[in-house]
Amino acid sequence: MATPFALDRREVLMAGTLLAAAVRFPALAQSAPALSRAHADRIARLIADMSVAEKLGQMTQVAGGRQVALNSRLDAAALDRVRAGQIGSFLHVAGAEPLRDLQRVAVAESRLGIPLLFAMDVVHGYRTIFPVPLALAASFDPAVAEDAARVAAVEAAVSGLHWTFAPMIDIARDARWGRVVEGAGEDPHLGARIAVAQITGFQTADLAGRDAVLACAKHLGAYGAGMGGRDYDTADVSERTLREVYLSPFLAAAEAGVGTMMTAFNDLAGVPTTGNADLVRGILRDEWNYQGLVVSDWNAVSELIDHGAASTPAEAAALALRASVDMDMTSDTYAEHLGTALAQDPTLLPLVDQAVGRILATKARLGLFDDPYRFGDAARERTVLGSAGHRARARRAAERALVLLRNEGGVLPLRAGAKVALVGALADDARSTLGSWKARGVQEDSGTLREAMGDATFVPGVAPRSDDVSGIPAAVAAAQGADVVVLVVGEDFDHSGEARSRADITLPGSQMALIAALRVTGKPIVAVLMNGRPLALEAALEGIPAVLESWFGGNEAGPAIADALFGRSNPAGRLPMGMPRTGGQLPLFYAHPPTGRPANPDLTVDSARYHDTEIGPLFPFGHGLSYARFTYADLAVDTQADRQQARYTVTCAVTNDGAVAGDEVVQLYVRAPVAGLARPGRELRGFVRLPLAPGQTRRVSFTLTSDQFAHWADQGWQVAAGRVELMVGASSADIRLTGALAVPQAYALPASALAGAALATQVTVA
Ligand code: BGC
Repeated sequence: MATPFALDRREVLMAGTLLAAAVRFPALAQSAPALSRAHADRIARLIADMSVAEKLGQMTQVAGGRQVALNSRLDAAALDRVRAGQIGSFLHVAGAEPLRDLQRVAVAESRLGIPLLFAMDVVHGYRTIFPVPLALAASFDPAVAEDAARVAAVEAAVSGLHWTFAPMIDIARDARWGRVVEGAGEDPHLGARIAVAQITGFQTADLAGRDAVLACAKHLGAYGAGMGGRDYDTADVSERTLREVYLSPFLAAAEAGVGTMMTAFNDLAGVPTTGNADLVRGILRDEWNYQGLVVSDWNAVSELIDHGAASTPAEAAALALRASVDMDMTSDTYAEHLGTALAQDPTLLPLVDQAVGRILATKARLGLFDDPYRFGDAARERTVLGSAGHRARARRAAERALVLLRNEGGVLPLRAGAKVALVGALADDARSTLGSWKARGVQEDSGTLREAMGDATFVPGVAPRSDDVSGIPAAVAAAQGADVVVLVVGEDFDHSGEARSRADITLPGSQMALIAALRVTGKPIVAVLMNGRPLALEAALEGIPAVLESWFGGNEAGPAIADALFGRSNPAGRLPMGMPRTGGQLPLFYAHPPTGRPANPDLTVDSARYHDTEIGPLFPFGHGLSYARFTYADLAVDTQADRQQARYTVTCAVTNDGAVAGDEVVQLYVRAPVAGLARPGRELRGFVRLPLAPGQTRRVSFTLTSDQFAHWADQGWQVAAGRVELMVGASSADIRLTGALAVPQAYALPASALAGAALATQVTVA
């Protein structure tokens, strides 16, 4: 969309720097709140004074360590580069004292004294580790995701960090992809809500305030759509799916003022995202008016050559710059080769100035030009990291992330005093509870389920990474002597995460053999799942009456799971991704367009299904049970259609008919009007996690607008006139109430409009 503040390509070339534009248009997008006149002047003077090498230095981010060995590369050579103004930012560094020392070198010993930006992947905690992001999304409670980000930011900032590479907001519909653990699952509405909550938690309302860190929405775009669930692989999605599904959380993030974004490793229909001018400069900058800093992913600028998109490093650098990637993470391609590209094509220089302007503006917004040492406080660091208050917040999050998938015959909650055999090596695996990206988390801080289950007889049985079955007889013996078996199965922390795709997402190792042996005992089995992705467990869970999904729950996983098993808490999380019956169903998502031959249970009818597995997932998106029971009634729709954009309030009553207090996650799905194309059969447009006392009834109202039924067509958002079906229920497949409303007239919306609209559902509870 052309707003008065958008920098179009012509203007960029004429204006020379972002600063020139920023001064002319003080009210840039939310992603870049106006700089003070003093900061703008200082940055303009700096850019005028900088050599080309110093500019390329600002655009260069260097690894100060490896993920596991932070600060390990901060050697004399790295410090010399800082003195020479050749580095703008470090990643994988940490600690109030070392970062203060490093900052002092930049500020006091380099010619221009520009402060460095310190970054790290602080994803679901820094020292206090919360549940993995997929689990936070499973809380269906954005406040939990926000709180996790807030605690992470407080701890990261006090340790001297300015910037986290989180949240990962890639929509993921193929559980083979190892990085589904880092995101919020399959749905763009849930994904956008969780993304905005995380960004708010990291950045707060004031980036220059104490304890705020810059967030980074990653990885633009469609990184989650890699073919076959393979990491880094090509994505080839239609413009409609790109806009409606994969980019939607990014637009929401831009609107929420996320300070930075990261491009991805993959190509989108053949164009690597890190050199994709249509995507980054075209959609992100020009259409959405995003003025924040864009960083490449690790080495992704030089990998433009591996993709075959560039043949020399200078070409790779020019491609990324033209796409509007401001900072080169670790490949040194800008530092070493952009100069060659500039010599060949001087028209690139204004783009360099623009990138440097955005980087310096980011530093200014963090307050680093006022006080380069304002982050990091060694004295507070000692008391803040892993504090009791932070642990209590992690405990609450771990509890709210649990999803009760099955509970037949009231096996759960366990009777107090029941003789429990606790089986499975994961029950005692403190490292795995931390999941992927543990920042400075340590396993010694994690309470395991074994510790939390005090009296239970623990037998490891088998480990998820081993084919050794010698522990199975002892597990069977323990089961025979018990009233009930709590069986912990799944993956260890290293089965999911970056470059951790799996072709077969059934239980790894010998866990199936363990289950088979335990089944023979006839004892009731409660399966507790630990995993970073939905697994394909139809066969594994056959005949098992109770199943609790615990993900990787962070430091407080053990006590949180034990509380739920014994009914001291009541699980209420929901699946943010459907769980397949078998990996052959992937990719799998509920928001499917209907086919001309809908899946039919009758195999003699030709239909859109597999012949060798049931229709639909094992557990659908949005599914999760409770120890309470909820009923739904009285759907009512109120329409106000006096303007082009109609406004609706959808109301219903939800009652807790159970004997205990619990939360119901009330979900509103819509099916948009017929628009000459196949729209998804249902799409989430609102949800609320609603606490209800036994016997209590509350009325829930969702207020939404017709904008939220738009689809992408003809280079923009189109709202079709007609009937919209409404479905309110307890999951995407458990619809309790249906209704309809009407969109009185068709209309179009600008390209940058939808995310805000899709998020705009107001939920009130009476
Ligand atoms: C990942 C990013 C991460 C970066 C820095 C890359 O390999 O794809 O998500 O932020 O490394 O650690």
